[in-house]
Amino acid sequence: MPTKRVLTGMRTTGSLHLGHYVGALEMWRKIQDDGQYECYFLLANVQALTTHSEHPEILVTSVQEVVLDWLSVGLNPALPNIHFVLQSQVPERYELSGLLLMIGKYSELLRNPTLKSELTKQINATAGFMVYPLDQVADICMVSPTPPMPGDELLVPVGEDQKAHLEYARNIAERFNNKYGQVFVPCSTLVGKVGRLVGTDGKEKMGKSANNAIFLNDPSDIVARKVKRMYVDAHRQETVAIHYLRAFHPGAQTEQLIAAYQNGVIGDKQLKEALIDVLERFLYPIRQRRAQYEQMPIRDLLIDGTEHARAACQKVVKAVRDSMYLTYPVR
Ligand code: TRP
Repeated sequence: MPTKRVLTGMRTTGSLHLGHYVGALEMWRKIQDDGQYECYFLLANVQALTTHSEHPEILVTSVQEVVLDWLSVGLNPALPNIHFVLQSQVPERYELSGLLLMIGKYSELLRNPTLKSELTKQINATAGFMVYPLDQVADICMVSPTPPMPGDELLVPVGEDQKAHLEYARNIAERFNNKYGQVFVPCSTLVGKVGRLVGTDGKEKMGKSANNAIFLNDPSDIVARKVKRMYVDAHRQETVAIHYLRAFHPGAQTEQLIAAYQNGVIGDKQLKEALIDVLERFLYPIRQRRAQYEQMPIRDLLIDGTEHARAACQKVVKAVRDSMYLTYPVR
């Protein structure tokens, strides 16, 4: 039987929003429910420090928030195939990352699009930030089935913004295999159907720092207020509510509503009321699940999954070390 694994993750930098849902979480949930893959969901708290090192103490609550958000959308670490993994508690991952630094090229890191655009904003980037793309390759490869067997799979479902990182991960795994022998299963990528959700202000992307997000844990009154303040296009083409209706309630009914809006049969107010209704229906089960988990000790939900990832990573690290001849001398 081939081994089929999923690894994906998020940096723990605070609460998750609707953009995370349509870009990634919705897809993760489907993969979980299909039950075909053993899934590792990584809480990247170490990598959160690449951008969030000002107030490191918030990392603890950030981990809790992300875990609660994951639980609230129905990800379930009580299932035998689902593992929540706390990055900082997998020491072997650093070893893998350190060894992969000897495969990746400095010039490639400089060319990485995410790094390039962030570097224009960060004047004092850490060395950790500079090697982040390679560190992320270690996240993925740490649960690679090894040695690779025919039919083995390592799938990484992510939001569209991660595509370049994952091509790089595949590239590094293949380069390693060619140079040192078959150790890794090169990963394949899966991108969410709504790659990128616009912000409530109509800007290209929903983001926490952009102040244009609706969070999965926003209460009803806040959601309604945010919808009422959403960007409206005078030509009725790029009105934000249109995008959200299509993302959260796709189908003929929504298309009819949008047509009525664009033909002037209904106005902005009615369109937004329809969206509030759609979002309330969408958020209802999410809020129910959150309430159910709110009192649960988060730590207990992470220990088994983290140990499971460690065991996989130990196996990978041993194979990597051996194939790189990083062993005791023969005499
Ligand atoms: N870089 C991802 C993000 O910023 C988070 C992440 C860390 C990740 N390690 C990963 C995603 C491994 C997929 C696979 O959202």
